[in-house]
Amino acid sequence: MSVAVCPGSFDPVTNGHLDVISRASAMFGSVVIAVAANVAKRPLLTVGRRVELLQEHTAMWPNVSVAEVPGLLVDFCAEQGASVIVKGLRSGSDLDDELPMALMNRHLSGVETVFLPASQHVTHVASSLVKDIARHGGPIESLVPGSVAAAVRAALT
Ligand code: PNS
Repeated sequence: MSVAVCPGSFDPVTNGHLDVISRASAMFGSVVIAVAANVAKRPLLTVGRRVELLQEHTAMWPNVSVAEVPGLLVDFCAEQGASVIVKGLRSGSDLDDELPMALMNRHLSGVETVFLPASQHVTHVASSLVKDIARHGGPIESLVPGSVAAAVRAALT
């Protein structure tokens, strides 16, 4: 069975992430969502909360699971028996960010990265923008699931 790892900060998970996870779940035997614990950006939500929210919103796909990644992504891929990493791409600047990581991960362990273009209706959705809008009291309910919007607002109070 083909195992793919879908990594990210997911701070918070957005409708854009769920779009990519949904399509990955149809392409691979199983998909493990890898929630990075030690992201350079100081996260708004704890890693435990990010994992919980992802579990809640991926429960409809039986071949999708969620785990925290404490260290290197390539080590996690090896533990999971995954030979593929899946990442979503919204723009050329996403590719500029993602390509060095994809090449480094392949250099480190041989794991390949598959890029899935975002669906058009979520191309503008980014976790950083969701947090910025919420910080300024704006509406985020069309960008993230309802419980995620509530978690973001609670973390900001
Ligand atoms: O949501 P993001 O910011 O695109 O995710 C970046 C992430 C978590 C995929 C990347 O920072 C990562 O892989 N972190 C785990 C540590 C690691 O393996 N670093 C080397 C990457 S080449």
